Amino acid sequence: MSQKLHELAVELNRTLSTDGSPIASMLSDQGRRLYFPSRGILGQSAAAKGSEINATIGTAFENDGTPLTLECLADIVQLDRKAFLYTPSYGLADLRGKWREMMLEKNPSLRGKQFSMPVVTQALTHGLSVASSLFIDRGDSVILPNLYWDNYDLLLHEGYSAELTTFPMFVNDSFNIDGLAELLMSAGDKKIVLLNFPNNPTGYTASMECAKKICGLITHAADNGKKVIVLIDDAYFGLVYEDGIHTESLFSDLAECHANVLAVKLDGPTKEDYVWGFRTGFITFASKSCSRDQYVALEAKAAGCVRGSISNTSSLAQYFLLHIYELPEYRKQKRDKYNTLKERYLRIREIFATHPEYADSFHPMPFNSGYFMCVKPVEGVDPEDVRKLLLAKYNTGVIVLSGLIRIAFSSVPLNKLDLLFANIHNAVQELQR
Ligand SMILES: Cc1ncc(COP(=O)(O)O)c(C=O)c1O
Repeated sequence: MSQKLHELAVELNRTLSTDGSPIASMLSDQGRRLYFPSRGILGQSAAAKGSEINATIGTAFENDGTPLTLECLADIVQLDRKAFLYTPSYGLADLRGKWREMMLEKNPSLRGKQFSMPVVTQALTHGLSVASSLFIDRGDSVILPNLYWDNYDLLLHEGYSAELTTFPMFVNDSFNIDGLAELLMSAGDKKIVLLNFPNNPTGYTASMECAKKICGLITHAADNGKKVIVLIDDAYFGLVYEDGIHTESLFSDLAECHANVLAVKLDGPTKEDYVWGFRTGFITFASKSCSRDQYVALEAKAAGCVRGSISNTSSLAQYFLLHIYELPEYRKQKRDKYNTLKERYLRIREIFATHPEYADSFHPMPFNSGYFMCVKPVEGVDPEDVRKLLLAKYNTGVIVLSGLIRIAFSSVPLNKLDLLFANIHNAVQELQR
């Protein structure tokens, strides 16, 4: 028997269903239950803000009112001591505002479109988990290409009991639009799609033309009565190395494409700004059917989910990020790091162009972006055997998944790339003998 919903959840659900908006019907059971506890401790604390005596807050202050902080830590951190305090469950307001502003800069076609404020998560994995809490019920199917980040299994399948319903990502080295179309138009009204460009593991991003087709399909499904939730995993956003490839997030295209489509963007500085251990990310919503109040309601549900799981996210990381985003050198340094990765990408292209014999050993999967690329060993050679031989004899480590060898060129120095591919070629040749 399902428990009674909290009155705040009832209010949010009511807001989300006003004016015939389909958003409330897209929520999972847990999503319907979620609310932000604005009237509990947090509400009472907020009400006491500015009081002469404020005994509401579970942090500690010195007698002079500054945060009570170990000096040895404060000496290392060199930031305002506010960085030692909690941030709100929504995340640091200034950082949310800054990230939103940067989203508009990085995605010019988002300008003029409506979307929520980002809510801070403990990086993208947690953002995906917040999205899953909001929208995925046990047994729901999540549609995605068959080449995906393997942690989706643990997160979505084991964690949220979703079925990962995949379509072959490539047909003749082109993104399999028809495979996606078929699953989108299959029986059932609620469709959850998960798209990740630049993709892990393949390093593939859709071309402009292909991205347009993907969005067209989603709009078509919505036109046919499907309620489509598109989870957009933008972990490697911005790392596109070829012309003609979609450099904006699909979020821009889907934000106002149809009232039956809700776009949910998961992004963050983890890979974009090379701060893997900071554990900061964002979840942002957009739908043609969302009013400002409805965005506020979705943000409240997301922040309620943060509050009920990890309470709030790392303050220190958020202050550091806010600090660097304002620095004049930030953009140049980010560009330099992008160029470091792009140089490796271009070198790999050169290696393939100058070594036609490698085609006797492996076939590179389509790639144009991100941290990775994959090769498929020729018929009859087991990639796992290649991996083991590379380790045992060639001092070379790679990952094997879905019948492919994944190469993280993000972590291989430029001057080792030639040897890396020569080693793979030699290992495959050896196994064929
Ligand atoms: C596609 C994809 N999404 C999400 C993540 C997780 O990112 P984070 O470290 O920010 O949780 C990764 C990390 O490898 C990834 O490859």
